[in-house]
Amino acid sequence: MTREILATVRSAVRTGRFGRGSDEERKRLRSPDVGKLTLRSTDVAGEVLGVGSDVKNFKAGDKVVAMLSQINGGGLAEFEVAKESLTVARPQEVSAAEGAGIPIAGLTAHQALTEAVGIKLDGSGEQTNILITAASGGVGHYAVQLAKLGNTHVTATCGARNIELVKSLGADEVVDYTTPDGATCWIWLEYSNVIHCTTGIPWSTFEPNLSEYGKVIDITPPITAMFSYYLNKVTFPKKQLVPIHLKAKGENLDYLVKLMKQGKLKTVIDSKHFLSNVEDAWAKSIDGHATGKIIVEP
Ligand SMILES: NC(=O)c1ccc[n+]([C@@H]2O[C@H](COP(=O)([O-])OP(=O)(O)OC[C@H]3O[C@@H](n4cnc5c(N)ncnc54)[C@H](OP(=O)(O)O)[C@@H]3O)[C@@H](O)[C@H]2O)c1
Repeated sequence: MTREILATVRSAVRTGRFGRGSDEERKRLRSPDVGKLTLRSTDVAGEVLGVGSDVKNFKAGDKVVAMLSQINGGGLAEFEVAKESLTVARPQEVSAAEGAGIPIAGLTAHQALTEAVGIKLDGSGEQTNILITAASGGVGHYAVQLAKLGNTHVTATCGARNIELVKSLGADEVVDYTTPDGATCWIWLEYSNVIHCTTGIPWSTFEPNLSEYGKVIDITPPITAMFSYYLNKVTFPKKQLVPIHLKAKGENLDYLVKLMKQGKLKTVIDSKHFLSNVEDAWAKSIDGHATGKIIVEP
């Protein structure tokens, strides 16, 4: 407890963690016990009420963004307890709603681009072509903006209604995933890397369009992902399918919040819901058609 921070929650986010659930699972998850929903959110922004005796960097009254435990969650509530290591200062330029959008989705986009692919976000790396699928979603919309900070040419996929939005985030070309070009990820370019933010697109769709040492970074790896990963290593020794799971780091969260302060990153807000109507937020999230992030406010 001594390294923990008690804060009010001004804004929390429901994050999509069940993208590969079966229809049966989705049906069950559509109407979960409201009490259990508090567990589902890890992403919060609020104000510090009190700190443990070993907390060094925060005091009561500080505005913060925090990521809670991926196992216990706890964000869909009026108060939360966060670890100091995954809590960062929130400058006044960053609203609670925008800040709360960042943790899981922003950190996953950041990890995929910087660690899995090696993009340098100061723009100093070699020019590279990237495909980002589901660029209108929580992870995808941050991935487009971050990729454009690097030296990248971004092709993105999303539904027709979000094409202009995704272009406004910086994508160089945007393809409607429901069209024939979109279904094959519309290739006139060879991609060095794919940040794959949705489900149901097989490796065989990406493989012909990947450059010789291209990588597909899969942020929604199914249970069989490790098998596919090793099989691919044998069949396509140069091209890679790389499943990733978020390893959250406070320094990266701080970096993303600072980018937002500088106006280089924004959170697209799909909708805001009151905590008393949290089931609506949940239902929207489970449907998989959010544009950006779904916010819950007390
Ligand atoms: N690896 C990790 O650590 C990690 C971290 C965070 C999230 N995730 C996973 O990542 C996945 C994405 O999460 P998210 O929150 O970013 O998604 P999301 O916000 O639910 O994405 C919804 C958006 O994706 C679009 N979309 C759906 N299918 C598409 C397709 N085939 N092609 C292009 N666009 C499509 C939708 O457009 P329309 O409405 O027009 O259909 C909608 O705008 C989830 O499965 C989540 O569990 C993994």
